[in-house]
Amino acid sequence: MAPESRHTFSLYAFVALSALTASTIAACQRQETGPRQPIAFSHAKHAGEYQIACQYCHSGVRRGPHAYIPSLQTCMGCHQLTAATKPEIIKVRQAWENKQPIEWMKVNRVADFVYFNHYPHIAKGVQCIACHGDVATMEEVKPPFELNNMTFCVDCHREQKASIDCYTCHR
Ligand code: HEC
Ligand code: HEC
Ligand code: HEC
Ligand code: HEC
Ligand code: HEC
Repeated sequence: MAPESRHTFSLYAFVALSALTASTIAACQRQETGPRQPIAFSHAKHAGEYQIACQYCHSGVRRGPHAYIPSLQTCMGCHQLTAATKPEIIKVRQAWENKQPIEWMKVNRVADFVYFNHYPHIAKGVQCIACHGDVATMEEVKPPFELNNMTFCVDCHREQKASIDCYTCHR
């Protein structure tokens, strides 16, 4: 198949699927609070009060699609000593000693038919807050429903002269 016809096909496929999936995803994601996390990790404390840079923990944004959640190694870099006797930190240390990764619940997810990549945004200086809200004030990260709203993406792309071709985000 020529590249054009393949793109046309996948576009039809996701248009057909999207009526169903979009409403299901919307129902799942437009919630007021984030999911319950296995450790009571607070962005308000780490990124707010102690001003640890977002990219210290989410360095993936400098390289590609995913921001990533930091490994327990990163946590232990501070928590070998910091608050070491607090119950939540004992849980972190035990998981680390047993080589048992923490199963963090996912907060944000775009639909499978949407392609998203952090890197080009960070490279052009788009701030985390533009898409995620003011995470540094949040005890629990909440999903901003805008991430599942095409208008939110396209309006900014138009404003900042980024591509608005369908293939940019649906490939
Ligand atoms: C000390 C490490 C650390 C720092 C600093 C940090 N984060 Fe996080 N972040 C985490 C961890 C751990 C999670 C997973 C638990 C949770 O959702 O709270 C997370 C989750 C998130 C999520 C939700 C992920 C998902 O599943 O969709 C977003 C969005 C996020 N962080 C943005 C930020 C932003 C923006 C900043 C800076 C203002 C920041 N983080 C600073 C460790 C950190
Ligand atoms: C750059 C240093 C640093 C890193 C990295 C870091 N923290 Fe912290 N964390 C702190 C500081 C400072 C406090 C506040 C300690 C206090 O209030 O005594 C804190 C507090 C906490 C608390 C609250 C403890 C309590 O009950 O008072 C939890 C839970 C926690 N961190 C989990 C984590 C997890 C999980 C990670 C890895 C994803 C992480 N931290 C990474 C510095 C860090
Ligand atoms: C242009 C919008 C936008 C910007 C800017 C942005 N994000 Fe995201 N972020 C998203 C979307 C969309 C997702 C969901 C991606 C998915 O489902 O694959 C996401 C997911 C995440 C996640 C979940 C885990 C992962 O690996 O993707 C974290 C953590 C995160 N972002 C942190 C950040 C941080 C930190 C910054 C700033 C340095 C940032 N984001 C900037 C839109 C953005
Ligand atoms: C606040 C503004 C803003 C928002 C919101 C935004 N973007 Fe972007 N986006 C940009 C900018 C700026 C670029 C970089 C354009 C460039 O490099 O010339 C970009 C680039 C991209 C690229 C790479 C384009 C390429 O040519 O490789 C993709 C993919 C993308 N955005 C998808 C999304 C999706 C999906 C969303 C919504 C979830 C979104 N963006 C929301 C501003 C934004
Ligand atoms: C900058 C990124 C971006 C561009 C460009 C873009 N879309 Fe989207 N599109 C999205 C996002 C994000 C969603 C919402 C997905 C969800 O519901 O989770 C979406 C959803 C859709 C849906 C599902 C119905 C809906 O509105 O929720 C259709 C159909 C669609 N897009 C078609 C198109 C067509 C046709 C083009 C070109 C004219 C296009 N898109 C360009 C990001 C984009």
